[in-house]
Amino acid sequence: MDRVRLGTSGVEVSRIGLGMWQAGGKNWGTDVNDRDCVAAIVRGVERGVDLVDTAEVYGDGHSEEVVGKAIKEVGRDNIVVATKVAGYHMRERDVERACRGSLRRLGVRTIDLVQVHWPDPWDQVPFQEGFRALERLWKRGTIRAIGVSNFAVRDLKDAQAHLSRTEIASNQVRYNLLQREVEAEVLPYCRREGIPILAWSPLAQGVLAGTYRPGKKPKDSIRKQNDLFSDRNLREAEKVLRVLRGIAKSRGRTVAQVALGWLAKDPLVIPIPGAKRPAQAEENAGAAEIRLTREELRRIEAASRRVRLDTF
Ligand SMILES: NC(=O)c1ccc[n+]([C@@H]2O[C@H](COP(=O)([O-])OP(=O)(O)OC[C@H]3O[C@@H](n4cnc5c(N)ncnc54)[C@H](OP(=O)(O)O)[C@@H]3O)[C@@H](O)[C@H]2O)c1
Repeated sequence: MDRVRLGTSGVEVSRIGLGMWQAGGKNWGTDVNDRDCVAAIVRGVERGVDLVDTAEVYGDGHSEEVVGKAIKEVGRDNIVVATKVAGYHMRERDVERACRGSLRRLGVRTIDLVQVHWPDPWDQVPFQEGFRALERLWKRGTIRAIGVSNFAVRDLKDAQAHLSRTEIASNQVRYNLLQREVEAEVLPYCRREGIPILAWSPLAQGVLAGTYRPGKKPKDSIRKQNDLFSDRNLREAEKVLRVLRGIAKSRGRTVAQVALGWLAKDPLVIPIPGAKRPAQAEENAGAAEIRLTREELRRIEAASRRVRLDTF
């Protein structure tokens, strides 16, 4: 599997990552359990995926504990662990406390990438406080790289201004064939600055795997709240799915792999599909081998441009 360097940080990750929000618990469905999530990580590592994404807020730390179990199983050197400090933990003492909690739950001495989960609009803590605290942890070697998530261009610039010795290593944002808003500003800016994008919900929470339709929707609490799963939006998604199915069939691949392959065509973009079990992790890792042709990309692009989602 190809590898990507996270900015100037020196941290290198697999071309395709693995999201572990799912390991937070049953709010992702009654079929989620710790054993399968650990097995998914192990299978991913066997297939060359070492970037594993989690967060202190996923299942109130439970996802980090599950990732910690997998790290014990595969060995620390075989996983690049990326976690997130919640946007409401950006006061100096909270940043330190949050990272200590993550280290303990993950069972590691160093975290490869700590991302600020979102720029918090409520407490109005100046970025300076949180990012300087993160940089101190970086100087001590507790964290190897500082990333952000859901940051707009203005936030990225502000955050970078408060780091003096290191740079923002990555920006994790929602990006998939149905939800391409980041292409307007964030992606061009990150390209200019050499900041890799970790693409969350790269399968549109399963819609782009072709699993769901108006009469067949996920029942878990997370996706019940997601407008993507409205009847109308699922019908719109069919416009892209039809093309993905055709390409998948002609290549002997799956729809999910083609959807991920479309994202990974951009050297700056690292999809981090969530998986609940080993078979999904294995399938998603296989997307790294797909090289879509110009004609296939043109067909996918044309279909994607015709999608009109209701955003409410
Ligand atoms: N930074 C942020 O604010 C943020 C927000 C969201 C997510 N994330 C991160 O990004 C990761 C991925 O995003 P996501 O979980 O929202 O969405 P996603 O990766 O687009 O979708 C994951 C879901 O798709 C289904 N799936 C996965 N692989 C599949 C396959 N090969 N075939 C069929 N179905 C498959 C599974 O659900 P079913 O099998 O039940 O259909 C899985 O739970 C998360 O785990 C998390 O680490 C970050």
